Amino acid sequence: MEVIILPSPKEVEQMGGQLLAQQVRSKPNSVLGLATGATMHGVYTYLSEQHAKDGLDFAAIRSFNLDEYYGLGPHHPCSYHTYMCQHLFERVNIQPENTRVPDGLAPDVQAHCQEYEAAIERAGGIDLQLLGLGEDGHIGFNEPSSSLSAGMRIKTLTPMTRRTNQRDFPPGETMPMHVLTLGVGNILAARRCLLLAHGAKKAPAVQAMVEGPITAMCPASALQQHRSTTVIVDEAAAAFLQLADYFRCVYEHKPDWQKGR
Ligand code: GLP
Repeated sequence: MEVIILPSPKEVEQMGGQLLAQQVRSKPNSVLGLATGATMHGVYTYLSEQHAKDGLDFAAIRSFNLDEYYGLGPHHPCSYHTYMCQHLFERVNIQPENTRVPDGLAPDVQAHCQEYEAAIERAGGIDLQLLGLGEDGHIGFNEPSSSLSAGMRIKTLTPMTRRTNQRDFPPGETMPMHVLTLGVGNILAARRCLLLAHGAKKAPAVQAMVEGPITAMCPASALQQHRSTTVIVDEAAAAFLQLADYFRCVYEHKPDWQKGR
């Protein structure tokens, strides 16, 4: 696991955007695993700007989102589908038919999950999986106690995640309790993972993910088993890392041939 510590949230999101842009340039028909959440705002803004200014080309890119609220249709203002349209899909030249977000209204959840996983397979697997981090250590919506080899399925959110994500819903509207999410097993199958986290609230989860034992109590800790994961955090989120100085030193002395990998 490569851990990069940057001074501010803005720099974390910017570097996330740069690495994704690099992936798009080096493999124009990449299969991207995409994530939502506040942390991704700057990433998608960066990509949209690169598209507008430099012609970053998404014409052959295919994408699969990690998760969706169960019970929300794609056009619900708080669905992750709407989030993706607003933050990325409508701002770059990605082909709508090349983008997938789990269907929160799927009548047969099991069949939908199987078909979604099969579509990822058919596309050749995910080249780069973008990830945020929940305060409780979740990735996607794999909450503590999730199987570390699970595939896509329906999950129940913890009270903590429901409290945190309630901010994305208007006052008076209760957020769903259930979600569809790719499993940790699907995430580990991606060729490369890129996890971004910033802010003091994420510091305990970052420490558990990077330095704690691999445990279902912190699903993100499973990334320790992944052969190519980059974690980018700001100083506040890195506050509890015992090896912070070592990670800074590794990054500072990263050989040129390794830069951007
Ligand atoms: C949400 C999403 C995750 C996201 C995480 C962090 O619950 N399901 O995919 O990465 O929480 O969100 P934020 O970036 O808003 O802190």
